[in-house]
Amino acid sequence: MPGIVVVGAQWGDEGKGKVTDLLAERADAVVRFQGGNNAGHTIVRGGETWKLHLIPSGILHPGKLCVIGNGVVIDPKVLTDELDGLRERGVDIDALRISANAHLIMPYHLMLDHAGEARLGKLQIGTTRRGIGPCYADKAARLGIRMQDLLDEKILKQKIVAALEPKRLSLRPYAKDPALDLQAMTEEYLVYGHRLQRLITDTTRLVHERLDAGQKVLFEGAQGTLLDIDHGTYPFVTSSNPVAASACIGAGVGPKDIDEIWGVAKAYVTRVGAGPFPTEIDGPLSDELRERGGEYGTTTGRSRRVGWLDLVALRYAARLNTLTALAVTKLDVLSSFDRLKVCTSYRGAEEVEFEHFPYHQTMLHHAVGQYEELPGWREDLSECRTESDLPSAAREYLQFMSQFVGVPVALVGVGPGRDAVIWTEAGGGDQAGTEVGTERGTGTECGTPRAAASKAAASKAAASKAAASKAAASQSATPAAAG
Ligand code: GDP
Ligand code: IMO
Ligand code: MG
Repeated sequence: MPGIVVVGAQWGDEGKGKVTDLLAERADAVVRFQGGNNAGHTIVRGGETWKLHLIPSGILHPGKLCVIGNGVVIDPKVLTDELDGLRERGVDIDALRISANAHLIMPYHLMLDHAGEARLGKLQIGTTRRGIGPCYADKAARLGIRMQDLLDEKILKQKIVAALEPKRLSLRPYAKDPALDLQAMTEEYLVYGHRLQRLITDTTRLVHERLDAGQKVLFEGAQGTLLDIDHGTYPFVTSSNPVAASACIGAGVGPKDIDEIWGVAKAYVTRVGAGPFPTEIDGPLSDELRERGGEYGTTTGRSRRVGWLDLVALRYAARLNTLTALAVTKLDVLSSFDRLKVCTSYRGAEEVEFEHFPYHQTMLHHAVGQYEELPGWREDLSECRTESDLPSAAREYLQFMSQFVGVPVALVGVGPGRDAVIWTEAGGGDQAGTEVGTERGTGTECGTPRAAASKAAASKAAASKAAASKAAASQSATPAAAG
């Protein structure tokens, strides 16, 4: 029955693609549940790089069911291009299925996204301009057009007319754009429908069948917890819910179908686009970290803003998602500092210090990270494959992180490649690392090879218990928040 959710625990780009690809090895199906082609998930395998925007990161495992769930918004041009690109590179895409209920990004959504940002001027969100917000807005307004509508010309046309009507004023600057012509738009989308018809189905039922048969289903999130429209840094967020609970809605399963929730977090923090970022680093140090980490957007190529590890935000993300495991990526990128700062509280206006992620926008905008300093290391980590290979300062860094957040670290990334990974004791131990690293994994447990399954179960139970008591200890050691 196991359902395993993978979510971003920061502001996106944490390395979800790589972690999903690794865990997919032991899953029977992989399901994307929200977001659209604002996402850019990178997988590096055997020297080849794959950048996926809509297709689940499980696609590189031939024959494994890959689902684009009902919660995803789909630009069919991007999807068909992505499919063509994968096919050209010899990837078997036969096992991909698309929810008939997923909403379509239409040409006018892209225009509205551009126009909305232009109108906001200096206050703009810095969206990816992929039409994501306007598409989800139409979904909520019940003016959305879904994958199933692509298969019926009359319905498609009727729905386009209904959706365009209330937008006439906002779309006036685009009135002459040929992409807005009703007939041309209908024809273009019918062609997509024709191409994708074979893949469009009731994916919710497919997922139920897998779970009911005792198979393992991996739910792949996009974006990150702090970009969540309800719980993130609103309005500087995306228009969907990247938190774990959203896997249920965006795939059509219940909370009881979820057994494990993996939060992916970088060993530092990045953010693309505008909005509060309490641990942001300015100046030459930020350039150094950005270059070392290759922090440029997968989707838009924009420079990512960089900052120190924000444990206040990460603890908030751990609680919101009820994380059972942390996958810490890019630890290798930190290998050049004598001291490393980690944020353990914020200082707000009037010098007030607080230890919880602020719910109030004004407070969030004023919040500045307060730090503890930990010893750094200079050793290259890229060849480390077990925890004991890591320098002691790197182990301490991970331990501090895990204890503060109250979640065991199950996996550590030490390079972009899928073999550049350490499976910790909580994630199944060195044995898992060897199997995954050599791509010879034969295990059946997700994230846990068969040989290490019982050991992992025991260590997971112990880790959860330890994490719970550590969390309790850290709560009680924390003076009452000032806001
Ligand atoms: P996602 O959107 O969460 O899937 O993350 P992105 O793919 O947008 O960005 C993560 C980037 O970091 C990609 O270029 C990955 O190849 C790379 N990456 C992932 N894990 C590691 C790691 O442990 N070390 C290093 N150096 N790079 C990593
Ligand atoms: P992955 O899945 C990082 C950000 C945008 C902008 C805000 C709203 O690769 O982690 P949108 O186009 O969604 O309306 O933009 O959200 N954003 C991301 N940042 N990674 C992503 O996805 C993102 N998807 C959206 O930069 O600030
Ligand atoms: Mg990304």
